[in-house]
Amino acid sequence: MRIEKQRYTERFGSVKINDVQKVLELDSGRKAAMPLKEAIAVDKIEEDVIKDFEEKMAIVIPIKNEKLKLFEGVITGVPHECLIIVVSNSERKEVDRFKMERDTLNQFCHFTQRKALIIHQKDPVITRALVQAGYADLLDEHGKTVRDGKSEGMVIGLLVAMLMGKEYVGFVDADNYFPGSVWEYVRCYAAGFSIAQSPYTMVRILWRYKPKTSGEVYFRKWGRVSETTNKCMNSLISAKTGFETDIIKTANAGEHAMSMKLAQILPYASGYAVEPQEIISLCEDYGGVLPTANQKVARDGIEIFQIESRNPHFHEEKGTEHLRKMLLQGLSTIYQSPLCDDETKRMITRELVVQRALKRGEVPARPHINRPPHEVNIKGFIDFMAERLDSYSALKEE
Ligand code: GDD
Ligand code: MG
Repeated sequence: MRIEKQRYTERFGSVKINDVQKVLELDSGRKAAMPLKEAIAVDKIEEDVIKDFEEKMAIVIPIKNEKLKLFEGVITGVPHECLIIVVSNSERKEVDRFKMERDTLNQFCHFTQRKALIIHQKDPVITRALVQAGYADLLDEHGKTVRDGKSEGMVIGLLVAMLMGKEYVGFVDADNYFPGSVWEYVRCYAAGFSIAQSPYTMVRILWRYKPKTSGEVYFRKWGRVSETTNKCMNSLISAKTGFETDIIKTANAGEHAMSMKLAQILPYASGYAVEPQEIISLCEDYGGVLPTANQKVARDGIEIFQIESRNPHFHEEKGTEHLRKMLLQGLSTIYQSPLCDDETKRMITRELVVQRALKRGEVPARPHINRPPHEVNIKGFIDFMAERLDSYSALKEE
């Protein structure tokens, strides 16, 4: 695979945010014996290097009542070396959608001879494991079951990836139409990790196009939600540095991946606030404006890569109300940050009112934030789950 080298980087304290790097070639051929002429501007990531990173990576797929055909396509696209971890919050009552997902995964693993795990978010065993870890943040107000939300599913997947000894974790939504896109996202994750210098690394995907269909296909680049969230996040950073910037282009990136070292120290906001909160938290903890959370991490620095994939991103459209909810949740993380200035706050409330996600005079509520895993007893979770893991495995040892 060939991708552009990072040409431009902005620093916010210890956080290095790299500008977008484009994928130039999905398959870059055999290993070259000679030094590459293009190396000054281009990174060529060899196939075996990609495989090495994929082997160390778990791909977590959060899913809630998606069409089975889409899920089936998504798992087909995850490169073979990656461990698949599906965390489902799908219906189990009238129709047991979870069982259908599990059957699909089992069949896939049987014929491809690969390992995968599938867990239901509301499984009482998970609740007990979280209680063992002292991680009640993920539970509802009665402490009985895990809260609804994509983010909560992601955190469970993350903990299971730790249990499986993975060094990297990547997230892929279950409603992607093109298996080829999924395949490319994971390769982008591997490529980003291979060029990173710091052990605290994140790769966020920016899609080249996000097509819309209304009679004919239109290859749109920006969605309304991401455009607005990027703008407000850039405004927050600009106000702090005094230099206007547009460096953030992936504030909402659902498709993203992290080194486990970074994943452990990040807090996770509930639901769809999760992706913007990751960047906001890094700016709060390591931006140099507020007290530094951990000196060792600050010394190593944090690297964020934004990689633009070639495949268009085509996923289920869930309607205006859904988009409003996502916009509100994402912007609330920026609004409620202690780093947020008055000008940016005004911009946020204005946008939310115009897009009918908030009434005039209201302010976005503080999001529920789950503590970083390293602040809880991860070993408690791991020990409890390790004994029971077999029942979540899609490919049983024979
Ligand atoms: N486990 C679990 N639990 N999964 C969930 C839940 C839940 O409560 N809610 C949603 N999901 C799954 C969906 O099934 C899908 O696979 C994925 O999480 C993303 O949810 P969508 O509802 O499809 O979100 P979206 O497509 O509108 O937004 C996505 O892209 C945005 C950026 O464009 C999400 O990934 C956002 O988080 C992201 O900001
Ligand atoms: Mg979606």
